[in-house]
Order: sequence, then structure tokens, then C-alpha cells
Amino acid sequence: MPYSVREAKAPPIPLRADDLAQGALDEFELQRRPLTRSEAAEIMRHIKDSPDITGYSAAEWTGRRDTFALVSPKTGKLAGALLVHHLVGRWSEIAVVFLFEEYRGGGLGRQLLQGALRTLKSADRKLLLFFCSPGMGRLSAEAGFDILADEAEFTRGSLRRKLFLSVLYKAQWLCSAYRLREIRRKRREFACSFEFKVAVLMRQGAR
Ligand SMILES: CC(C)(COP(=O)(O)OP(=O)(O)OC[C@H]1O[C@@H](n2cnc3c(N)ncnc32)[C@H](O)[C@@H]1OP(=O)(O)O)[C@@H](O)C(=O)NCCC(=O)NCCS
Repeated sequence: MPYSVREAKAPPIPLRADDLAQGALDEFELQRRPLTRSEAAEIMRHIKDSPDITGYSAAEWTGRRDTFALVSPKTGKLAGALLVHHLVGRWSEIAVVFLFEEYRGGGLGRQLLQGALRTLKSADRKLLLFFCSPGMGRLSAEAGFDILADEAEFTRGSLRRKLFLSVLYKAQWLCSAYRLREIRRKRREFACSFEFKVAVLMRQGAR
């Protein structure tokens, strides 16, 4: 049976944030679900100021993509979210890992990424992650990704990967008027070059 993201209703994975600085917020839950419209609006407002993330639309956060929400069950408040873009050839891209500023630096980013990876790896996906911030490089290396210098290293010696990245991936990724607008705006306003390094996590025996 083909893999379907929406059918795979993973139960919430409880996460303990033992090392989070704020003592009151000691427990979070990872929920695999679309964000609500107000959660999406809040996260998009913050990502608009980020020079490291291009931008994902409200439709993508609220159901078009596979999303994980890190929530405090006590308050229902969203601490952060992760967005996955499922691609052809059993590839999935971890497209965004985002925590609101007050939740950063306490280990929650690690837990958000690793919790989502547990679910995706059990679904037998090959994983890609493009990043330009040192924090994300460190987090993905720790989670078992191989860190490559650039896209050329990813495609070297493989016609199949070249075709995947330059045609299939690009077409799927750029198929969003919102993202194209945000890329243009951020290049203009923040002088972003969006030169990403590539991290890859293969499933065993895959090429
Ligand atoms: C990237 C992000 C998710 C990391 O989450 P976090 O909770 O702050 O990170 P953690 O506390 O789990 O840190 C895990 C490790 O990564 C390192 N790290 C995290 N952010 C870092 C940074 N900006 N620079 C260098 N190292 C960083 C930490 O040192 C830590 O290692 P340690 O525990 O051995 O010290 C978070 O900072 C964030 O949301 N940033 C804004 C969005 C963004 O840029 N996302 C990446 C692009 S998709």
C-alpha cells in the first residue's frame, strides 16, 4: 500500500523538556497535525523576519504539508513547529524547524527534530534538510544526518539525484507563489543569498 502521510495518524509523542530554562514549562507534547489558522499566522509572522528560512504559506501550515506541533498540554500554547515536504522517490524534506524565541536554547529544538524523525524513519523515508544556520547544522548532524557542503556534493556521480534535485525537487519546492514572493522580498530586504548546505539521512540500504 502506498505511504500516505495523512492516514498515518501518529499518536502524540510526549516530550519532557527537563533541561528547559523556564521551570514552569516542564512538559511538551509533539502532535502530528496541521496547525490552526491562528498558529499558522503567528509562525508565518515570525518567519517573515528570518533570513534563514524562505517562507511557507498558510495553506502549507494548515494541511497541505505534513506538520508537527510542539505544544504545552497545560496551556495549549504552541512552542514551535516542524514542516515536512514529501517528495517523489520516497524523499522527504525537513523544510522548517522553528521555535518561538522564548523557547530556544533549552534543548527543545533537538527534541522537536528527533521526535519528528522517529515517526518519519519508521515510515521508511529518505530525508533531506537544507540549512544555512550553524545551529541547524549541529542539530541535524547530532540526529544522524550526513552534512554535505552543497548541492553539488549531493548530486556528484548520480544522474538520478541530479534529475531529482534540479527538476523534480525544484518544481515541487517552487510551486508556491507565496514562497517565490518571500524569496524575492528577503533577497531585496535582507540581502539573503539562500546558499544552503545539504544534510542527508538515508534509510538502511537505500541509494
Ligand atoms: C534552530 C532551532 C530550532 C534550535 O532550537 P533550540 O531549542 O534553540 O536548540 P537546542 O537547545 O535544542 O540546541 C541543540 C544544539 O544545537 C546547538 N545550537 C542551537 N542553536 C544554535 C545556534 N544558533 N548556533 C550554534 N549552535 C546552536 C546548541 O548549542 C545545542 O547543542 P548543545 O546542547 O550541545 O549545546 C531554534 O534556534 C530556532 O527555531 N531558530 C529559528 C528558526 C531557524 O532558523 N530554524 C532553522 C532553519 S529551518
